Amino acid sequence: MAIKIAGTGSYVPERILTNFDLEKMVETNDEWIRTRTGIQERHLAAPDEATSDMAYKAACRAMEMAGISAADLDAIVIATITPDHIFPNTASLLQNRLGAPNAMCFDLSAACSGLLYSLEVAHALMTTRKKYKHVLVIGAEKLSCITDWQDRNTCVLFGDGAGAVILENDGSDGCNTLLAADLHADGNYTGVLNMPAGGSRNPATAETVEKRMHFIHMEGKETFKLAVNGMVSASKTVLAEAGVEASQVRLVVPHQANQRIIDAVAQRLDVEPEVVFSNIKSYGNTSAASIGICLDEIVRNKKIDRGDYLLLTAFGGGLTWGALLFRF
Ligand code: UT7
Repeated sequence: MAIKIAGTGSYVPERILTNFDLEKMVETNDEWIRTRTGIQERHLAAPDEATSDMAYKAACRAMEMAGISAADLDAIVIATITPDHIFPNTASLLQNRLGAPNAMCFDLSAACSGLLYSLEVAHALMTTRKKYKHVLVIGAEKLSCITDWQDRNTCVLFGDGAGAVILENDGSDGCNTLLAADLHADGNYTGVLNMPAGGSRNPATAETVEKRMHFIHMEGKETFKLAVNGMVSASKTVLAEAGVEASQVRLVVPHQANQRIIDAVAQRLDVEPEVVFSNIKSYGNTSAASIGICLDEIVRNKKIDRGDYLLLTAFGGGLTWGALLFRF
């Protein structure tokens, strides 16, 4: 059986928040943000626009490219840390909106590594059971609703959006396109990147709201170091597993957290900077959505051809990290 990427789609909200806008909100400046992160602007969802609304638009575009209808979907997986509700899952809300009655639905929580985790799980599902012919995998986030807009350490980093991928099993004797996956987590580091309240440990109270515990908390420096190490080591592992040299890879798509992290990964993988895709300047860090948004831009702008090696690598809260190697 041959499981391949049959379609991609993405969506970012209309509203743009520039670094200059942020200068009016917290003590920061465009130069600091650009030189420390590479970000120039980010898109923010409208107040009445939820994660499933953004996922819907990305999903429609991906299905159109794949030439399938919602009734063809056998499963929907949404990677998100900003679901519409704690329950029901966002994938079920999307299933109803799309009209996809045949799809089983679940959300997957692995922060910025969520899309990679979801692709690996979906791929495993399709490999195990032939009835899963079309699986919609989406990374979608409304990070603006868990961002502390008074904290300059974090609020300059994040944006909203959604990126979708349709995995298709065409039933042929061809080769699977996902050649290798290397995914990890280390719960020792839950403290460096998290949202302290809103779950069963610290349910929402007036006190948790007052203490600003419903926002992203991040220890930037520590996260930075671990991000580079994790992405480089997972990338090297998938390349070795598949017997592919880094120089053979057409595109490396790292999670878009910080241009300096992206550059450090490129340097340590010893690949040319132009092989490493980046659109962080326009979107900021959109967590689980970031690699999906990149992929859609790459596919639509024909920056990759069938048969090319495509290396995806991500890092995020959990801590979670990993890499996937595709032969596109
Ligand atoms: O997607 C999940 C994974 N997330 C990441 O991978 C993010 C990883 N971390 C980072 O990208 C970087 O650590 C940051 C961009 C968050 C911070 O960059 P940094 O070079 O590590 O800066 P820093 O935290 O060491 O801060 C340097 C200085 C500090 O001032 P002092 O203490 O030197 O006086 C900060 O207070 O910059 C200050 N600072 C700012 N100044 C202007 C922090 N944020 C800002 C800001 N504007 N927005």
